Amino acid sequence: MAGIFDCEADGPPDGGSRDLIGRSWESAELSRLLKRSRLVTVVGLGGAGKSALAADAAHRIARTCAPVVAVDMSGAHGVGQVFQALSRTSGDHETLLVLDNCERLLAASARALGQLLGEATGVTALVTSRRRLGTAGEAVLPLGPLRLDDAVRLLALRARQLGVRLSGGEEERVTAGRICLRLDCLPLAIGLAAGQLTGHTPRELLVRLSDAEASLALSGGPEVPERHRTLRHCHGRSHELCLAQERLLWARLSAFGGTFTRLAAEKVCADEQLPVEAIGHALDGLTAQGLLSRVNHRAELLRMPRTVQDYGAEWLARLGEETRLLERVLLWSRGLL
Ligand SMILES: Nc1ncnc2c1ncn2[C@@H]1O[C@H](COP(=O)(O)OP(=O)(O)OP(=O)(O)O)[C@@H](O)[C@H]1O
Ligand SMILES: [Mg+2]
Repeated sequence: MAGIFDCEADGPPDGGSRDLIGRSWESAELSRLLKRSRLVTVVGLGGAGKSALAADAAHRIARTCAPVVAVDMSGAHGVGQVFQALSRTSGDHETLLVLDNCERLLAASARALGQLLGEATGVTALVTSRRRLGTAGEAVLPLGPLRLDDAVRLLALRARQLGVRLSGGEEERVTAGRICLRLDCLPLAIGLAAGQLTGHTPRELLVRLSDAEASLALSGGPEVPERHRTLRHCHGRSHELCLAQERLLWARLSAFGGTFTRLAAEKVCADEQLPVEAIGHALDGLTAQGLLSRVNHRAELLRMPRTVQDYGAEWLARLGEETRLLERVLLWSRGLL
């Protein structure tokens, strides 16, 4: 069945927001999904650029195709506010409803959207959330990190916007690449890191970022929303959204220092508080939020982004489990578990 956004085709060459760096594949995929489905959710790690991608698509659609109603749900507190927001869209007119930052009100948003999409046949909904809604008919676009070259461009652009010009020399480009890799090419983290370049050279910044505490403390100005104030705030929001067993597993997995298999996760992390049968489910939950990514499907190798690991390690220390878990990882690596 043709969706309402067929008129947009691939979009005019200058149609999107000029602020978005990279993401051409994801933008095209989002356009494709919006043509096929009346409910599309962009999911991924906090700060991955879900809202930026949705805003870019909305901007293009508003210019070429259909009116857009955009609602930021990050400050909404209850079902009433969800319905109030949705009441701005009604009838059979072709409209794109962007429901941005829905993760704190997932169930309410899913219910309200189900009702709205049933009644208002012209409406298509574009949702952004750290977790998917999980409703029937929902098309999901998982948003991963930026490509490394795009991440480096973003770092240079944000630095330039703050009056700092990177030299563009080979050595500085390599250092910028290392900074971006250290930050998992996460757009939010790169923007926050660029702020540091007003007082530090790229090399000094890279050295500072070898410290987990300093990475999580990267901070933006007062104009930045509360949940993006620092990387610790950003991952903290995801932590709040996790189920208790996901939180515990997140902390314990940080002991691996990067990649691990599902089997290793079960062997190292299970105990009476986190039974082995619960681990698969918790791994899937963390993966669905971008807190883990699959490196290799056949070997079931999983990877935890560095700053997510840093955040988990803080919790592991707070839980008093650091030494025990590091010992278990060591035993596992020697084949003794
Ligand atoms: N592709 C991009 N090009 C330029 N800037 C980007 C890009 N992606 C994200 N950003 C910037 O990174 C920051 C975080 O992006 P955004 O708010 O879209 O993340 P998010 O995934 O929606 O986070 P949250 O889960 O907290 O809502 C913003 O300042 C945004 O403008
Ligand atoms: Mg967002």
